[in-house]
Amino acid sequence: MITKINSGGLQGIDGYIISVETNVSGGFPAWEIVGLPDTAVRESKERIRSALSSFGYVIPGKRIVINLAPADVKKEGAALDLPIAVGLLTASEQIYLQKPQECAFVGELSLDGSVRRVTGVLPMVIKAYQSGIRKVFVPYENAEEAAVVKGMEVYGVKNLGDLIEHIIGVRSMVPVKVDIDKLFSGSSKWSLDFSEVRGQESAKRALEVAAAGGHNLLLIGPPGSGKTMLAQRLPSILPDLTFDEALEATKVHSIAGRLPRNVPMILSRPFRSPHHTISAVGLSGGGTNPKPGEISLSHNGVLFLDELPEFRKDALEVLRQPLEDGVVSITRVNGTYSYPCNMMLVASMNPCPCGFYGDKNHDCTCTPKKISSYLGKVSGPLLDRIDLHIEVPAVEYKALESHTPAESSVKIKERVNKARKIQTMRYKGTGIYSNSQLTPALIDKYCRLGEDANELMKSAFENLGLSARAHNRVLKVARTIADLEGQDEIKSEHIAEAIMYRSLDRKFWA
Ligand SMILES: Nc1ncnc2c1ncn2[C@@H]1O[C@H](COP(=O)(O)OP(=O)(O)OP(=O)(O)O)[C@@H](O)[C@H]1O
Ligand SMILES: [Mg+2]
Repeated sequence: MITKINSGGLQGIDGYIISVETNVSGGFPAWEIVGLPDTAVRESKERIRSALSSFGYVIPGKRIVINLAPADVKKEGAALDLPIAVGLLTASEQIYLQKPQECAFVGELSLDGSVRRVTGVLPMVIKAYQSGIRKVFVPYENAEEAAVVKGMEVYGVKNLGDLIEHIIGVRSMVPVKVDIDKLFSGSSKWSLDFSEVRGQESAKRALEVAAAGGHNLLLIGPPGSGKTMLAQRLPSILPDLTFDEALEATKVHSIAGRLPRNVPMILSRPFRSPHHTISAVGLSGGGTNPKPGEISLSHNGVLFLDELPEFRKDALEVLRQPLEDGVVSITRVNGTYSYPCNMMLVASMNPCPCGFYGDKNHDCTCTPKKISSYLGKVSGPLLDRIDLHIEVPAVEYKALESHTPAESSVKIKERVNKARKIQTMRYKGTGIYSNSQLTPALIDKYCRLGEDANELMKSAFENLGLSARAHNRVLKVARTIADLEGQDEIKSEHIAEAIMYRSLDRKFWA
């Protein structure tokens, strides 16, 4: 008898349906899996044999052929154990499954029949839903993650025995439910607050603008001025995630196997701060079995690179293309993998090895050659992709001893949320969420300047020698500043502030 059982695989960040076709026929006993299985899939036989025997079932001594369709895509990992086991049981008529076309199975088997957690369940279940499947059986530990998909009946399978009993109607399992609205209402709380940061008003303003529009930002200043402190408080003012953004971020964490247990969904913007010893692959993704890197794990959130020049030069240079496109593409013999990486890059650095170049109160002890080689670690093209360059000077004593608390993160976040809401509404249906993602065509549409503003932009472009990219980025930042004020039109003061954020590179790098 031949049966067809649905399962899922991963291509980049998206799932696809795998049809597990099993033919059990008379003839010489054999076991063959075709359809480009990798070693883990081929080895499933021994796991399935042992798991089945725990519950009194067997692999029949017949000719068994398993075809994994589509046949031209490589199938990886052990997540196909469960559908292959179900296919075998139904094709050998040991059990009967009703309406197999309406369900899907995914899960890895242990020798004792328990079902182990697998990666990428969310994208697979999303795809299954889109293909008309309404019932999925996934590992118990992945069940909440899968239940995020509205309208899907999700069963968390602890072991093969429970699943068989459910199918043959001996004992039913209860579908897993997740209340998404409730999850979203308990919005995240960040323990670090901007009220702890004394002074540094202009740096805080820049962080507010960056958060509101999702712009990249570089903090530069002497040691101990509070750069790390400021950046670590950024999550407390980031705009709330929309459901679509949260789903995208969760997909990336799901395929990377980084979704924490018992956390069905990423609910606040990711904030990743990898150490500067990270490799290029760790940062941008890749490896023999490609996995998303830190830039993709920070998708729809923040990638914070503290002490930027300390990072390996090759690691920083691979950031260039993804920063521009919002996706990383990794090519391997068996295909190209694309992972989204629409994140805000936030970086901090000292202006020279001793840290005091350009400081009012300390003399810099570095030679010009040392300074230029230090700054040279951050290349021009990378710098050009950072929208806001902001100097964080040493804090003055007067600010430090002041006892009036600074503005709290909650207050700042209110303004950021308001500005972001304007953007989400404006860009509805275009697939983008914030000003930082504007394409040249959309810039043309939404960042039109009046006569005064245009005049100012023109003279800045010529006098500062801005690149075409910098020009576009200034317009996007100006759009955000206008949105923070709730203004439709970009005025010259908005342009002026946006240009100011692009003048620091001339002070240090010129
Ligand atoms: N503006 C400030 N208000 C209050 N405390 C501050 C401020 N700036 C710095 N501090 C104090 O100094 C400590 C060190 O600051 P931080 O680590 O942010 O400096 P940094 O600029 O990152 O220095 P480095 O260049 O050496 O990395 C903070 O943990 C905090 O206690
Ligand atoms: Mg620091």
